[in-house]
Amino acid sequence: MRPARALIDLAALRHNYRLARELGGRKALAVVKADAYGHGAVRCARALEPEADGFGVACIEEALELREAGIRAPILLLEGFFDAAELALVEAHDLWFVVQADWQIDAIERARPAKPFTVWLKLDSGMHRLGLAAHEYRAALQRLQAMAQVGEVVAMTHFARADELDCDRTEQQLALFNQVCVEASLPTSLENSPALLGWPDVQGDWSRPGLMLYGASPFAGPHPLADRLRPVMTVESGIISVRDLDAGESVGYGARFVTRRPSRIGVVAMGYADGYPQFVPNGTPVAIDGHPGDLVGRVSMDMLTVDLTDHPAAGLGSRVELWGAQVRVHDLAARCETSAYQLLCALKRVPRHYLDE
Ligand SMILES: Cc1ncc(COP(=O)(O)O)c(C=O)c1O
Repeated sequence: MRPARALIDLAALRHNYRLARELGGRKALAVVKADAYGHGAVRCARALEPEADGFGVACIEEALELREAGIRAPILLLEGFFDAAELALVEAHDLWFVVQADWQIDAIERARPAKPFTVWLKLDSGMHRLGLAAHEYRAALQRLQAMAQVGEVVAMTHFARADELDCDRTEQQLALFNQVCVEASLPTSLENSPALLGWPDVQGDWSRPGLMLYGASPFAGPHPLADRLRPVMTVESGIISVRDLDAGESVGYGARFVTRRPSRIGVVAMGYADGYPQFVPNGTPVAIDGHPGDLVGRVSMDMLTVDLTDHPAAGLGSRVELWGAQVRVHDLAARCETSAYQLLCALKRVPRHYLDE
């Protein structure tokens, strides 16, 4: 059997959730959209459900998957509903949703739910993706609060640059949120992972941690709180072929690596079809039987190559960690000009194995 696998440590997931709750102070909505950032939404939600205050998903399909798996905790549709017909499912499955545009308010007005909806009214405080502009917000809120169709309203916004700790954009967004929303004395929700970890002055009633639950840091460098996160996913595979090459021989497609000395090259069953990035530089870190090592050559669809020259004990069947406890996914992301978000979500084909306590 192909030795590639992803180990998912559910105890680490719970540890990270508790850290998010500790930092946010109040309730934390565990963001499990995109199949829990590639970790498996149902398994992650089940592992968190005994302590999680609720879950955040991108769309109704993701919410229904959780409900069908028996998850009873509150589930918030982070992008709201995409068409008015979804409101029947929202009601049937007791979901919460974000209101991010006026047309959604019109649709709510036309609905006749048996029980009022819980809505999170989103302010566009500077992300300029979803949400009502500051000058539209109060009127939208008044409309919602006047409707029998609406029960609790939470005021929310989303930060665009909270991962940049020396950038004042987060403070500007926070100031606008306070100006528009605080007076309304609604429960509030602002913090994503970088805000929880990096912006202690940002506080709300509900935080919305995603990335940090999975043990990855949103920051480019070391950070004392992010360093307390435990990695949840370990992606590993095995060496399926070894060759000895003279100096001056090229390895793989495009001769991206040429040996400078007599070398032992190991071939690992992992490639870009698994979601490993194709264009990583020579020297990208891996761990070979637990020891730091280097990826060399271009990553191909199902295989990649590592330098075993300084790993004389390694050979056929040796275990190679692509990311996990030794190669942190955010460090790998920084090496190949992507993000930990993208690497985690891109993983596919690799069977997942779940580890608990
Ligand atoms: C509205 C909203 N809240 C929270 C999150 C979680 O963000 P993070 O993964 O940075 O914690 C996301 C993710 O993109 C989001 O879109």
